[in-house]
Amino acid sequence: MDSTGSIILPSSSSTIAGEVDALFYFIMYIGIFFFTLIVGITIFFVMKYRRRKKAELTPDIAENKLLEIVWTVIPSILVTIIFFWGFNTFLKMQVAPKDAIEIKVTGQRWFWSFDYPNGANSQNELVVPVNNPVKLLISSSDVIHSFFVPDFRVKMDAVPNLYTTAWFEATRQGEFNLFCAEYCGQQHSLMKGVVRVVTEKEYQEWTEANMNLGEGLSLEEFGAVLYKSKLCHTCHSLDGTANKGPTFKGLFGSIERLQDGSDITVDENYVRESILNPRAKIVMGFEPVMSTYQGLLRDREIDALVAYIKSLGAE
Ligand code: CUA
Repeated sequence: MDSTGSIILPSSSSTIAGEVDALFYFIMYIGIFFFTLIVGITIFFVMKYRRRKKAELTPDIAENKLLEIVWTVIPSILVTIIFFWGFNTFLKMQVAPKDAIEIKVTGQRWFWSFDYPNGANSQNELVVPVNNPVKLLISSSDVIHSFFVPDFRVKMDAVPNLYTTAWFEATRQGEFNLFCAEYCGQQHSLMKGVVRVVTEKEYQEWTEANMNLGEGLSLEEFGAVLYKSKLCHTCHSLDGTANKGPTFKGLFGSIERLQDGSDITVDENYVRESILNPRAKIVMGFEPVMSTYQGLLRDREIDALVAYIKSLGAE
C-alpha cells in the first residue's frame, strides 16, 4: 500500500494502517459493486416491465428458490468475512505489545498533555521514536475528548475518571496531525496538536532535555517559558487586553471584583489557587472555562508561573 496516502485516505504511517485500509477498501469495493448491480437491475426492470397496452401485460411472477438462496448465502458469506477480518484487526489494535513505551495522555479543554516514562511532559506535541510500539494511557480532566491521529489509524476516546488505551507503532519519521474527534465545547476545532516521530536517539535526547526543563533558569525566566509551553498565552494576554481570561499585565497586586461581588487582592495564594482550582474565585466578567492544572504541573512549575505573573504585576 502506498504510504503517502490517496484521495480517500491519509498516509499510512503505522504498522496497523495497511491492514485497516485493506479492510476499508474491501468493504468499499463490495459496496460499489452491489450499488452498481442493484441500481442497474432496478433501472433495467423499470424499463423492461414498464406499463404497456393491456394485451402485453406480463403474468404474475412466481417465486424463484435458487435466486433467494443466492442472495441470502452470498451476503452472509461476505458479512462473515468482514466480521472475522474486522474482529482480528480490532484485537490487534487493542492489545499493545509488552515492550511498548507507555505514555500518559490527558485531554483537557482545549489541549493535550503527554507524560513520558522518565517524567518529561509536553503539551500538544507528542514525541515518539520510529519503529517502536507506543502504548497510550488516555484520560480526560474535564469532558469527553477523543485522541485521533488519522495517519496512524488510531482513535480513542479520552473519558474523565476512566483510563482508555490505544497503541501504535509509527513506521515513518515526520510530523503527523493530532485531532480531538469528540465535540468538547467552544474551541474543540482548535484542539489539535502534532505527533513528531523521530529516531530512537532523538527521542532519548528530547525526553531527557524536557525532563530537566527549567534547569539553570530563575523561577521568573522558567515561568516565561511555561507561559508559552503550557499554553497560558492562548487565554491570558501580556499586553493588557482581556481575552478568555484576565490579562497577566498588572494583575498581580491588583484588587479584583469577583462574581459574588466580593473583592480580592491578587497575591501568590490567589494565583496558585487559580491554577489548581480555576473555578473557585472567578473575576467578574469572565466565564468559568479554565480547567484545573492539578497533576499537570510540578511544584516548581507552579512556583515559576507565580513568580512570572508577579513580575508582570502592578508595581
Ligand atoms: Cu476536545 Cu474536542
